[in-house]
Amino acid sequence: MADVKKLYLKTYGCQMNVYDSERMAEAMGAEGYVTTEVLEEADMVLLNTCHIREKASEKLYSDLGRLKPLKAGKPDLKIGVAGCVAQAEGDEILRRMPLVDLVVGPQAYHRLPEMVRRQGQSVDTEFPAEDKFDHLPQRKGKRGPTAFLTVQEGCDKFCAFCVVPYTRGAEVSRPAARLLAEARDLVERGVREITLLGQNVNAWHGEGPGPRGLGDLIREMAAIPGLARIRYTTSHPNDMADDLISAHAEVPQLMPYLHLPVQSGSDRILKAMNRKHTAAQYLDLVARIRAARPDILLTSDFIVGFPGETDADFEATMALVRAVGYGAAFSFKYSARPGTPAAEKTPVEEAVADARLQALQALITEQQRAAQQAMVGREISVLYEKPGRMPGQMVGKSEHLMAVFLDDPQGRVGDLVRARVLAAAPNSLSAERMAD
Ligand code: SAH
Ligand code: SF4
Ligand code: F3S
Repeated sequence: MADVKKLYLKTYGCQMNVYDSERMAEAMGAEGYVTTEVLEEADMVLLNTCHIREKASEKLYSDLGRLKPLKAGKPDLKIGVAGCVAQAEGDEILRRMPLVDLVVGPQAYHRLPEMVRRQGQSVDTEFPAEDKFDHLPQRKGKRGPTAFLTVQEGCDKFCAFCVVPYTRGAEVSRPAARLLAEARDLVERGVREITLLGQNVNAWHGEGPGPRGLGDLIREMAAIPGLARIRYTTSHPNDMADDLISAHAEVPQLMPYLHLPVQSGSDRILKAMNRKHTAAQYLDLVARIRAARPDILLTSDFIVGFPGETDADFEATMALVRAVGYGAAFSFKYSARPGTPAAEKTPVEEAVADARLQALQALITEQQRAAQQAMVGREISVLYEKPGRMPGQMVGKSEHLMAVFLDDPQGRVGDLVRARVLAAAPNSLSAERMAD
């Protein structure tokens, strides 16, 4: 057998990194690498990193520290750092961690194979003129029923707290024809649900006479035979065009689920965050989306303890959460990130921010439980993603992206079934399959 080498790949951060990791694994596959889950047998370790909060970033350095004994016993082991910390810190990573062989940014990873072939350390954090997607290997082989598909990358919004515009660069939309071809190919290989990805996915726009906005792209994708479900994430409230909202009413394949981060419910803080909308505008948007698709489940991200946030500002966030009623949400304590405008400002006292985070999380958990509980007795569709741990059990996702457990000895991964919800736990549902 040819020289098979093993790649251990660890992914931190958002779904875009999950997609990138898959593409990097495929690129390395063309070089004779197969992936492994066993760190000790790896010939190469690649860490695909996230820079969004300090904790996420620091995780890289503790993980690299833990690789020291492995590298000492195996000097040929290659260690690579990819993703957003790679972009933000570049050769600083090599200075801090000399065991690293290569550092590659999110826009340059099509060059990874040639970097691996090179001797010595190398860094590539360019935003090259060529499109990385044109230089990645053709994708092949059967695959699972769900897939991510990056349609848009980068961000021009420059929220005052956020590193993404610096690590991912300016907003770029991939051409519609390419995306439709990639989607068709995924479906031919067994995919039934595609989640369209972008840092600002609803800012996607097409060129030429083809589809123009994300709503059009979704309508075109829905015409692909065999593609049962479409989702997209993450959306910015200001890019939620009417055409996209109406797609939620008109396209049955588009799932009734929308992650629409608002960050804060205080107009003063929204302004300081450079979010460019008010709480009232967000609530109006939510009302329009719910008018189009009444059963839509909304989720969001929140930051508490943004510099200058008062008790009254925080109460406005709690009021917004009560007004919307979310199915789930992520809430984070503000983390000052080097190079962002907010990092210059005086932070909120740690204990105050901690207390706010707890209060917000308690409210969100309550809403999440209520949303799960409200499903009991309802008829849902479930896409089977894997067998469960119990014999005859299948695990899948509902339209609302809730995890569902079913007893179905005949079930196979990739089946899309009708089911009735029997009971709800905080993070999952149990259901029984119904006759088709
Ligand atoms: N493009 C998406 C967000 C990507 S980052 C959007 O605009 O909503 C994911 C989430 O991380 C953000 O929604 C925000 O809530 C959080 N986040 C980003 N920067 C942060 C920081 N400096 N401190 C704490 N949380 C942050
Ligand atoms: Fe970051 Fe704001 Fe862009 Fe989202 S919209 S990626 S939070 S700068
Ligand atoms: Fe993190 Fe980069 Fe995604 S900073 S959240 S991996 S875009």
